[in-house]
Amino acid sequence: KLPVIFDTDPGLDDAIALLFLLGARDEIDLLGITCVAGNVGIEAVSRNARMVCEWAGRSDIKVYAGAERPLIRHLVTAERVHGKTGMEGAPMHEPAMPLQEAHAVDFIIDTLRREPAGTVTLCPVGPLTNIALALLKAPDIAARIKQIVLMGGAYFEGGNVTPSAEFNFYVDPHSAQQVLHAGIPLVMLPLDVTHKACTSASRVAALSSLSNYCGPLAASLLTSFERHDVQKYGQMGAPLHDPCAIAWLLAPGLFSGREVNIEVETDSPLTQGHCAVDWWGTTGRSSNALYLTEVDADAMFGRMAQAIAKLP
Ligand code: BDR
Ligand code: CA
Repeated sequence: KLPVIFDTDPGLDDAIALLFLLGARDEIDLLGITCVAGNVGIEAVSRNARMVCEWAGRSDIKVYAGAERPLIRHLVTAERVHGKTGMEGAPMHEPAMPLQEAHAVDFIIDTLRREPAGTVTLCPVGPLTNIALALLKAPDIAARIKQIVLMGGAYFEGGNVTPSAEFNFYVDPHSAQQVLHAGIPLVMLPLDVTHKACTSASRVAALSSLSNYCGPLAASLLTSFERHDVQKYGQMGAPLHDPCAIAWLLAPGLFSGREVNIEVETDSPLTQGHCAVDWWGTTGRSSNALYLTEVDADAMFGRMAQAIAKLP
């Protein structure tokens, strides 16, 4: 089983990704969930992560609260997309399972120091603040991380929060730049691939027709998520950003891309969070990430429904 720390800011697509991950427990050993402020504030995301675990009958999972704001910039949230609670349209409840006392950043550091070197995968699907802080606080962990598989960034697709930037990179560009330059094997799922993994009536129906609790619930979250995207893109079909990262962990063969050099703009107010992806190798700088641009979306949605079907 692949040992994974999931770093997240739920968030509707984060919640779907988490259900996907919990449904894949035969293949993934989820060591813990670390929360970061992003789509909504830290208290709400830490509650939402636990709420999703409880839906899936997994109150045994350890959930940690992390950074409440980006490294340098002030926090920008995405309530317009995910609603005030971060989980618009979800049946909300106050989770009974506790939030762990330790800070998310310390959990990341301690886990990496405890587990055998080169075994633990970090899977961040929100702003990269917790990961950057862990690397700053304990530089020795860099050499112990197997890989970072992250959702964030954009190049060919421009951006989804400004014309130049994807939300996670826009919110904390300094952390993104730091993580990209930490010398850790890195896989990136940017908008260029997530915009090819969109919901459709039949993909949502595959979940709503499941006979468990979590399938129809996931379908209703997707429907809620689509509402925003219909307004934005003028058509049905919401991109399942964060679940792409889980799909890559389980089935990397469904994706393709290129090893490239990527630099993140941190200073310009106009293009903050922009990824300069050296797709054609014009800079001569060595590559720092596998940048994915293609996905077999039918297969990905199939895998996701299969995993969610295993939940209560
Ligand atoms: C990313 O931004 C967030 O709103 C989503 O959860 C996803 O991680 C997409 O740009
Ligand atoms: Ca997210």
